[in-house]
Amino acid sequence: RKRIVSGVQPTGAIHLGNYLGAIKTWIELQNSYDTLFFIVDLHAITLPYDTQQLSKATRNTAAIYLACGVDTSKASVFVQSHVRAHVELMWLLSSATPIGWLNRMIQFKEKSRKAGDENVGVALLTYPVLMASDILLYQSDLVPVGEDQKQHLELTRELAERVNYLYGGRKWKKLGGRGGAIFKVPEPLIPPAGARVMSLTDGLSKVIANKIKRCKTDSFPGMEFDKPERPECNNLLSIYQLISGKTKEEVAQECQDMNWGRFKTLLTDALVDHLHPIQVRHEEIISDPAYLDGVLGEGATKAAAIADATLSNVYQAMGFLHR
Ligand code: AMP
Ligand code: TRP
Repeated sequence: RKRIVSGVQPTGAIHLGNYLGAIKTWIELQNSYDTLFFIVDLHAITLPYDTQQLSKATRNTAAIYLACGVDTSKASVFVQSHVRAHVELMWLLSSATPIGWLNRMIQFKEKSRKAGDENVGVALLTYPVLMASDILLYQSDLVPVGEDQKQHLELTRELAERVNYLYGGRKWKKLGGRGGAIFKVPEPLIPPAGARVMSLTDGLSKVIANKIKRCKTDSFPGMEFDKPERPECNNLLSIYQLISGKTKEEVAQECQDMNWGRFKTLLTDALVDHLHPIQVRHEEIISDPAYLDGVLGEGATKAAAIADATLSNVYQAMGFLHR
């Protein structure tokens, strides 16, 4: 079976963007792939954060995965920092990563511009190397992420090829390895975009209604997809499409004659229907820490077995003395 890995940062509240952009697609993928889903707590410290909140947010995010339908009989769910190989491989990979590649990352440029050079830790720059390590450790075939992560995925691919070239192939065979590639080169899997409109955990129906009410509208008649002059309209229609499970054509038909008021009511109801059961399950899961810790412990054990095998290959290929 082909393998898929993905993760999101631990946050107090998952928003609709990372739900539609990532987690929701995982649910379908877990049936046909070998899947590992993690909470990237080590990535969460790349900008100033609250030590009092980190572990709580990590648990919360794990509970959201499960509430959204990640099934632990099919997928491994674990916390990034619980599998030591992630940080270890990152060091090895960073020696093969040209600084220029990292300097070009749009997310780094944006985040560091906001914070200012003197306030930005080196980890913000090397963030994509850790992400590459998350992916390459598991010899992943596919990585479902939102559009904003495409550049990091591209860097991961280039880094895998570079390491394969520098340390793999015949050189590695001579050192006792099996020859050939050290890393599989992964492909991105980008779903149609959702939008950052709201959080998933405070979505009482009144809150949802309010958020949708505040979304920007325009003064064109009807609702339509793919009109460059109507980005808000396209965005909300896409959200409705993803949430309702209907095809684009069905949604286009259903909504073409609606005004904004009617469409917003339709979208609000669909969101409440979809999100309410998730919130109920989330409450149940978060109130049973022993269960959640059990899931995360088991996930970390399974993940570490795969990760450690890759890591020891890399050490060997790079010429280190065997432990
Ligand atoms: P983050 O919340 O930034 O850790 O993102 C977690 C995942 O959700 C990543 O795969 C992102 O690409 C995806 N994501 C975040 N925001 C959005 C958005 N507005 N639209 C689509 N995907 C998103
Ligand atoms: N950087 C990703 C984000 O912000 C999260 C992430 C870290 C990730 N490591 C990953 C996603 C590995 C997929 C695979 O969304």
